[in-house]
Formats: sequence, structure tokens, C-alpha cells
Amino acid sequence: MANDNKLQNLIGHSKEYGFVFPSSEIYEGLSAVYDYGQYGAELKKNIRDYWWRSMTQMYDNIVGIDASIFMHPTVWKASGHIDNFSDPMIDNKDSHKRYRVDHLIEGFAETLTKENAEIVLATMDKLLAANDFTGLKQLIEEKNITCSVSSTCNWTDVRQFNLMFATEIGSIADEANVIYLRPETAQGIFVNFLNVQKSGRMKIPFGIAQTGKAFRNEIVARGFIFRMREFEQMEMQFFVRPGTQKEWYEFWKEARMKWHLSLGIAASKYRFHDHVKLAHYADAACDIEYDFPMGFKEVEGVHSRTDFDLKSHQEYSGKKLTYFDTDINQHYIPYVIETSIGLDRTVMMVLSEAYEEEDLSTDDKQDSRVVLRFPPMLAPIKLAILPLTKKDGLPEIARFLINQCKPHFKCFYEEKDSIGKRYRRQDALGTPFCITIDHQTKDDQTVTIRYRDSMVQERIALNDVKNLIMNKIQMFP
Ligand code: GAP
Repeated sequence: MANDNKLQNLIGHSKEYGFVFPSSEIYEGLSAVYDYGQYGAELKKNIRDYWWRSMTQMYDNIVGIDASIFMHPTVWKASGHIDNFSDPMIDNKDSHKRYRVDHLIEGFAETLTKENAEIVLATMDKLLAANDFTGLKQLIEEKNITCSVSSTCNWTDVRQFNLMFATEIGSIADEANVIYLRPETAQGIFVNFLNVQKSGRMKIPFGIAQTGKAFRNEIVARGFIFRMREFEQMEMQFFVRPGTQKEWYEFWKEARMKWHLSLGIAASKYRFHDHVKLAHYADAACDIEYDFPMGFKEVEGVHSRTDFDLKSHQEYSGKKLTYFDTDINQHYIPYVIETSIGLDRTVMMVLSEAYEEEDLSTDDKQDSRVVLRFPPMLAPIKLAILPLTKKDGLPEIARFLINQCKPHFKCFYEEKDSIGKRYRRQDALGTPFCITIDHQTKDDQTVTIRYRDSMVQERIALNDVKNLIMNKIQMFP
């Protein structure tokens, strides 16, 4: 069920507390482009690290690389992106506003009953799968789907629109110098397949992972950091023996769902969505969808990409990209299972999941707080260290503790405002633990630890703080 209020509150909170800002805001922003603030950048980095370590550290047959954004232009011919990476679009003749056809119809379906929405979406899926553009236009007209700006149903024909950004390399602007900003990170892995396999003496099955920026000229950009023009992907290509792709596809579907559940998110907030219209490279594909404030939407894709990419690169480059399988004494082009998750979408998922407006009112007093219940391993700040007062030697003890902890995890120091206000501010940033240094600390070397989620406070030894927090923030306990 969509929850517009929650989305708006989340966007407001993200800006107010330094998580996400509209890009170039002083110039009125740039549509579908966002910047991460001081806490958003930490959160994003922690998610990226968790994914990276889950792939490259927890599997001994997966390694990570970092390929460049610019690639030889023929890569995109071979990958099919020049010819196929386009979405059916339609323009409203009165407002001149352009829509992705599937988004326009999906938006309309959201206004219908569940049963009618399912009928419309099933019809749309069929037409998309058949590339039936006339049928799609007819559906839009039959249902009298109107433009949100002009409110008219005066539409152009449906056309394909390529989503890649092109630029030029070098100083002479002729066609030979056209280069694209990569629309997916995966191709950097494919073109390095043999480099990694040979230099790492990798044996099939094995995987290559990478994280990095991707760029798409999205026409309908909406939903905060859900759909951006510049975003980051975390992708892994798993190379397998031909004929085994079905079992590895199932393996990775399950493994990736387990990863999502390891974020502490309930299984009921996820679902699989099998693709009806397969991408040009796939023989099976599904999305892992999360229940965002706007409803269930894709956060990750698991794709069985066949041998399409390697075969095509072999053809276009003229370089052999086969692997010699010593177990069966055969040369072949491996098949590939891909897991592809958007980092920004994962940030949005983690933020949506963590955000809570909690009513703390009692019979005597109205009270509430906004709290971000991040899993401790992902929280931007792990520990806030708060001396009760600015004097009496308490800041010195706090500084001693920070110096002990900061080589191991991110700490935050604050001595201004009442302790209650400081706790609430840390709740709003999602800091799981606060330590208060008070006068008793000077007598018995104990401090108060306050837990974000339960708000329970207890006294522990100053010397135990570092190890206690380190235990609680482990990624792989
Ligand atoms: N290599 C396969 C691939 O790129 P995709 O389904 O187009 O597949 C994978 O993208 C993931 O990248 C998506 O599940 C989503 O999380 C993220 N993603 C795609 N387009 C995005 C956009 N415009 N903004 C933010 N994230 C996006």
C-alpha cells in the first residue's frame, strides 16, 4: 500500500539530517540527481562494504574488480545497448511531456481496484513482451489515460528512446569519438573476464563483483533516490558451465534473498517478481521487490544472461573468450548468472525500513521522537559520546574514550544541549548507542550506555565500551 506521507517525511528528514540533498540545490536542483550528505555518505559506504564483503570475502570463488566508467564504444554495440537499450515512450501533444509507457499505465493502474489493476497490468505485460506499440497506444486511449499536466488524452505514437548518455572523447567532435557513460557496470566485468580468470587462476564456477556508477537518461524520474540519472550499482557476474545455469540461477535467487533478510528486514516486506518480457540477453530473470513507501518495487535483479555477452564480445573484438574446463576437457564460453542491485535503491530501502515516528506519550505528557532503526553494522555513527557537562574533567574522559574507539568505528562527540535533546538527535541520525560520562564516572570508572531502540540505560565499565560496541556492530557475527 502506497504511503505518500511517509515518503515525503522521509525526504524531509533525509535533508534535515544530512543524508540526501537535491543536487545543485542553490540552482533549483537537477531533476533525478541527488547528493549524499555527511551521514548519507557513511550509510551508503557501509551498505556498499557489507555487499562487497558478503560477495568477495564470504565466497572464496568470487573476486572484486574496479573497471572504468568509459569503455570502448564497440562494447555497447556488442552488448546490445546501442540497439536495444531503449524504453517505449509516448508524448502528450498538448503538454509535450514525455512518459515511459509502462510507468504511465502503472500509474493509472494504481487508481484502480486490485482486480482491475491486475487485468490492465497483465494486458500491458503481454503487449510489452510482443513489442506491440500500436496495442500499447490503443490500451492508453481505451482506458482514457491522461497526462498529469494537460489532463488530455492527446498522445503521439509510442516510440523507442535510447537511455544511454553520449559524450565525446578527445578534441575532435566527429562520430568516431562518441563515447557513452556506462548504463550498467556489468560490461566492465565481461571484457575483463579472461584477465581475471587467467591472472587469478580462477576455476569455473566463479564470480567477479564490482560496484560503481552507472548512468541512464531516465525519462520519468520519480520516487526520490529510487530512480536517478546517475546512480550506483553493485553487480556480480557468476560464470558457470553451460547447462548448469538453471540450478545456479535458483542458487543465486535464494542467496540474494537471504542477504536481504540478513539486513533484519521481515520476509513479508519482500517478494520475487518473475519477468515476462525478458531483456535481450536473458533466458530467465526476476526482480527482488521491497515494499517501499510507494508500494512493492524492484531493488535487485537476478538474471540468467546465457553466454550472450561473452559470445558477442568475442565476435565483435575478434578475441577468443573461451574457457578450458579441465574437469571435462572442453573449451566453451561460460554461461552467466548476474545479481544486480542498486546501491541508491538499497539506501532508500534501508532508510524507509529504519524510519519511524514513534509516539512516546504517557497519561501526563505528550511526547514523540523520530528514530532511524538502522542495523548497527550499517549505522553512519556507531557511538555517540556525550559528557554530561562541559566541565569538571568530564570532556577529558570523553576524549579519552573517543581516542580508544575511533580507530575501530565511527564516533560522534557532543557536549552542547541537555542530554535528552542530544539523545533525540542521535535517534534521528540512527546512532544505535550513546555513552554518557557523568560525575560518577570519575569515582568508579563506569558510564551510562543508552540503547537507541529500547531507550534502556544501564551502567557499564568505561573499559568495556570499545569491545561491547565492536561486538554489536560486526557484519558477520
Ligand atoms: N546489469 C543488469 C542491470 O543493469 P537493471 O535491472 O537494469 O539490470 C539493476 O538494473 C539494478 O540497478 C536495479 O534493480 C536497480 O536497483 C538499479 N537501478 C536501475 N536503474 C536505476 C536508476 N535509474 N536509478 C537507481 N537505481 C537504478
